[in-house]
Amino acid sequence: MLSSNAGLKYESQRLAVKYFIVAIVLFGAQLLFGLLAAIQFIYPDFLFNILDFSINRIVHINALVVWLLYGMIGAVYWLLPDETGIETVGIKIGTLGFYILTAAVAVVVLVYLLIQVGPGNEMTTWLITEGREYIEAPRWADIGIVVVVLVFLWNVYATAFKGKEITGIVAVLMADLLALAGLYLAGMFYTTNIAMDQFWWWWVIHLWVEATWEVFVAAVGGYMLIKTLNASRKVVEMWLWIEVAMMFGSGILGLGHHYFWIGTPEYWWEIGALFSALEPVPLIGLFVHVLYDWGKERGKGNDIKNTPAFAWLTVETFGNFLGAGIWGFMHTLPQINLYTHGTQWPAAHGHLSFFGAYVAILLGMAYMLAQGKYGLEKMKMTKAGWWAISLITGGVLLMSISLTLSAYTQTMIERGEFGATWEGYFIAQNATWFVQGMGWRLVSGLAVVAGYVLLVYDLLTIGKKQKA
Ligand code: HEM
Ligand code: HEM
Ligand SMILES: [Fe+2]
Repeated sequence: MLSSNAGLKYESQRLAVKYFIVAIVLFGAQLLFGLLAAIQFIYPDFLFNILDFSINRIVHINALVVWLLYGMIGAVYWLLPDETGIETVGIKIGTLGFYILTAAVAVVVLVYLLIQVGPGNEMTTWLITEGREYIEAPRWADIGIVVVVLVFLWNVYATAFKGKEITGIVAVLMADLLALAGLYLAGMFYTTNIAMDQFWWWWVIHLWVEATWEVFVAAVGGYMLIKTLNASRKVVEMWLWIEVAMMFGSGILGLGHHYFWIGTPEYWWEIGALFSALEPVPLIGLFVHVLYDWGKERGKGNDIKNTPAFAWLTVETFGNFLGAGIWGFMHTLPQINLYTHGTQWPAAHGHLSFFGAYVAILLGMAYMLAQGKYGLEKMKMTKAGWWAISLITGGVLLMSISLTLSAYTQTMIERGEFGATWEGYFIAQNATWFVQGMGWRLVSGLAVVAGYVLLVYDLLTIGKKQKA
């Protein structure tokens, strides 16, 4: 993927490759800092006062969100010329935006690492961190992000209107990206009221991952199905619109499942319970839809045009359903959430859902780029690619199961038996099943890291090898 991009027809696709390179590097950073945090769970003295758990955790989850956004922007710059038939309109300023954003990300991370403790005041918000989980970037970087995203949005809209036609995929993306970008603003309000702060902060996190991002991957997944399986555009787009309607419906009011215990009015219990329980419905639609399309297309001599990309798309379909649909539903009713809230349960769900819904599909897109860059008719799975997908997927699945077992122990002992007391907390933290779960998380994390190394190797070499 790395070497010269000269083979590509469109500047937009060359920019897409740049976005993906940074995305994959940040993915590596995410895994590294996750590993350090996991070691600290078992050996609390590890790197104490040198690189604290709080910082490792910040870098781990913020790198995750940032690299997924890089992958999404890259995916759009990649498919835009394909869908519209023209070069992206403002590609020069788009490229400039990329360099500004990347420089800003580097500075933000350096500041996290260099200034690990200090007072939390106005200055901290502007220069160091806003302290809002997952989107911790300080205000100056927030403003920079908004500017770069505006350039990106303008590029998408201007290119779509100037292009030969606006396909269903592009139309959905136009609406979705506007909502996605607009929601970011909800995470920038400043208030000293923690309940109000959480209220708005969830607009970003929940309405991203459970509404706008889901619609995004449905659109990109549709594009990938058309490219890898020659799927009928009509069928793909019909499902896309159905999913848009269902996802926005359940996803938006499903927001209520984060309003149970933060001081918001009690009617959120009912709203949250009902609508968030409906959320898996579109995920079932997505799941059935992909299998159905696949079944129809198989055996018609219509070979898969990119096996690794299709394999990752399959992982996405199952992973999204399991991680978001099943693992989300497990703790979404207030009667259950009362006991699971604040345990490792959300972490188990968070790992499997983020991986299943977003990591997997973007890694599939990375293979689409690798194929396009070398102009290959077909891309076949390599041995390294097979080991990479198996180790990463198997590792994250094992990690989620380990965390679920730890969470179960916490729920039973700390919450059920001891009624969320100080004493109960420590008894649960030292319970055998909890501790073992933390150990298995470390083991599975190492498997994911090994898979990552193979993935990078494969992405760098697969195109050249298969061209030859
Ligand atoms: C791909 C989609 C999804 C992703 C990436 C995702 C990710 C996450 C993450 C990371 C958290 C933890 C947030 C924190 O740090 O406090 C969380 C919380 C939660 N998620 Fe999801 N989620 C998704 C879909 C769903 C769905 C479909 C449901 C319900 C069926 C659901 C139910 C919940 C609940 C109830 C919580 C709150 C747990 C608590 O605070 O006690 N999620 N989600
Ligand atoms: C694709 C892979 C991964 C994804 C999508 C991912 C995602 C996440 C998310 C969303 C959270 C926040 C969970 C919450 O607060 O509810 C988190 C926390 C964490 N992750 Fe990961 N992660 C991945 C890989 C790893 C790896 C390889 C390790 C290392 C073993 C790791 C270790 C941790 C640790 C220790 C935390 C902090 C948990 C806590 O505060 O209790 N993660 N990760
Ligand atoms: Fe949610």
